[in-house]
Amino acid sequence: MGKQAVVLSLVALSCVLLARAFEPSPLQDFCVADATSSVKVNGQACKSPASVVANDFSFTGLHLPGNTSNPNGSKVTPVSVTQVPGLNTLGISMVRIDYAPWGINPPHTHPRATEILTVVEGSLLVGFVTSNPDNRLITKTLVKGDVFVFPVGLVHFQKNAGTGNAVAIAALSSQNPGVITIANAVLASKPSIGVDVLAKAFQVDKSVVYHLQQNF
Ligand SMILES: *[C@@H]1O[C@H](CO)[C@@H](O)[C@H](O)[C@H]1NC(C)=O
Ligand SMILES: *[C@@H]1O[C@H](CO)[C@@H](O)[C@H](O)[C@H]1NC(C)=O
Repeated sequence: MGKQAVVLSLVALSCVLLARAFEPSPLQDFCVADATSSVKVNGQACKSPASVVANDFSFTGLHLPGNTSNPNGSKVTPVSVTQVPGLNTLGISMVRIDYAPWGINPPHTHPRATEILTVVEGSLLVGFVTSNPDNRLITKTLVKGDVFVFPVGLVHFQKNAGTGNAVAIAALSSQNPGVITIANAVLASKPSIGVDVLAKAFQVDKSVVYHLQQNF
């Protein structure tokens, strides 16, 4: 194989990998989600283009602080396909996250999205953990104007590192990124994964698992 052929094969291979790693490219200008359709597709069915209006592509209220009076001390306001039907098939969405002083956004993953976050107020300690076997924590303290990336699928978190409120805006590479909050998924599944499994997984006595589960 000549040098050019090798380069071409590598480009072709990376295109295949890209195609597998991201949501499918749209085959039309837009496919505004039809919330009333019972058709099940990978995403949501499209509304007739004739009935599409500007508000299908719009959201109002992201300047409003979320209510952080909850045990996490944080509130995520999503702007994904549920809020903006025009995002359907476009592979992108965003959130506003508010943090009370010492609030956290607990360890979680987005099964379908990489996240790029910017701090617009206050300061955040952020981090993600690499896959097994290293489970290395990559962490940094951010201030207003700083940006941080959480690679797709990896467990990540944020904590307010300042003394006042903090606010972040993040973009995600899916119209419907999904959230798996680790503590809730593992300890509070319905029905329970099973105390014997959890006790072995966490290497603790079953009573510790019961104690942890009580808090959910
Ligand atoms: C914030 O949430 C708390 C707890 O749910 C509630 O008691 C309170 O009224 C809410 N505050 C506002 C301003 O909505
Ligand atoms: C913390 O936030 C996550 C994600 O929003 C939520 O699933 C979980 O129930 C919250 N935990 C508590 C203790 O409120």
